Amino acid sequence: MKSGVISSIISKISPSATIAVANKVDELKSKGYKIISFATGEPDFDTYGNIKEATDQAMKAGFTKYTSVEGIKELREAICMKLKRDNNLDYNSSQIIVSNGAKQALYNAFMTICEQGDEVLVPTPCYVTFPEQIKLAGGIPIYSPTKEENNFRITLEELKTKCTSRTKALILNSPNNPSGAMCKEDDLRQIADFLVDKGMWVITDEIYENIVYDEAKHISIASFNREIKDQTIVVNGLSKSYAMTGWRVGYAAGPEEVISAMVKFQGHVTSNINSMAQKGAIEALTGPQGMIKIMCKEYARRRDYIVEKLNSIKGISCNHPDGAFYVFPNISKLYGARLGDKIINNEMDVVNYILEEAHVAVVPGEAFNYPDHIRFTFAISIENIKEGLNRIEVAINNLIF
Ligand SMILES: Cc1ncc(COP(=O)(O)O)c(C=O)c1O
Repeated sequence: MKSGVISSIISKISPSATIAVANKVDELKSKGYKIISFATGEPDFDTYGNIKEATDQAMKAGFTKYTSVEGIKELREAICMKLKRDNNLDYNSSQIIVSNGAKQALYNAFMTICEQGDEVLVPTPCYVTFPEQIKLAGGIPIYSPTKEENNFRITLEELKTKCTSRTKALILNSPNNPSGAMCKEDDLRQIADFLVDKGMWVITDEIYENIVYDEAKHISIASFNREIKDQTIVVNGLSKSYAMTGWRVGYAAGPEEVISAMVKFQGHVTSNINSMAQKGAIEALTGPQGMIKIMCKEYARRRDYIVEKLNSIKGISCNHPDGAFYVFPNISKLYGARLGDKIINNEMDVVNYILEEAHVAVVPGEAFNYPDHIRFTFAISIENIKEGLNRIEVAINNLIF
């Protein structure tokens, strides 16, 4: 390949820190090892039958052609109904775009509002994709670390210290991937008032809104008042709530001018999402919602187990997530420990050690711009969780501190 062929914009994007782990997992699997993976962020439940049925019927009825770029009106109306029902948000169908997952909705949003050199505040730990998409859009991610001792709570005080005259927007993600932390209503209200005062945008990624535990309740920042709603792009999707990761149905809601611009952009990138999946999505949003509670109950059982067990393992201290299906324990007390010539100096060493010694895969905190931690998903069976954590415990007990 000729040198210099890769554009500077693509060269600026970081390769996923999970790829190195995935490659190692493949290598060990090819050698016949049984790896337990806590690495992938997707529900282990199947998509419900009524959703599949609606999609199947659409296909059989020949609903197999292009649709309008922004998604069929019936689906956008179903999304408006959902936003009213679940989030107390009033939108009309021309304020909605359906995209290939929340991921494309996020990309559309950054591409639409960022000018070259605009700064976007990114509280950390953060979803791996936010900083890279901001860079692709010509923006600059400005990290605002939350504090572990505050249970990764986002506060206005901390955000303010990172604001400059070039700050264009803030990205919020509550419940958070990877920490499971949720924004408190008081904090959100303060942040909303500040953003309105400064005329800054907020993109709120609410993909885990339904996966919440105990008394926790998700609140959309856009629901506080008209002013903040006019500066908000709400991003959501069906991947996590309805166990539909492979269907690629996400959406954004916002002021019509912004959504129309997103439609213009998406029209030249992918056009509409899969037409049949749109019919399935209508059924998911308008049909029975009982499956969400059933999944949450099971996730809660797993969360309680994983938090307690991880906290009982030497050198690990685990947070207690309010939502999503991840835990993000601190593993820095393992630094300095060794087994033979293997010395643990950082979180990547921990990830490699438990992969090689325990055959368990997890994701390093650096993937989320937050060192000294590792992420576990508990969207895997309780049997695998128990087996995986037992293996980790044995491997850590073998270390010399
Ligand atoms: C915070 C967050 N946003 C967006 C996505 C992407 O979701 P989708 O499957 O709808 O593209 C994920 C997936 O892991 C996520 O964790």
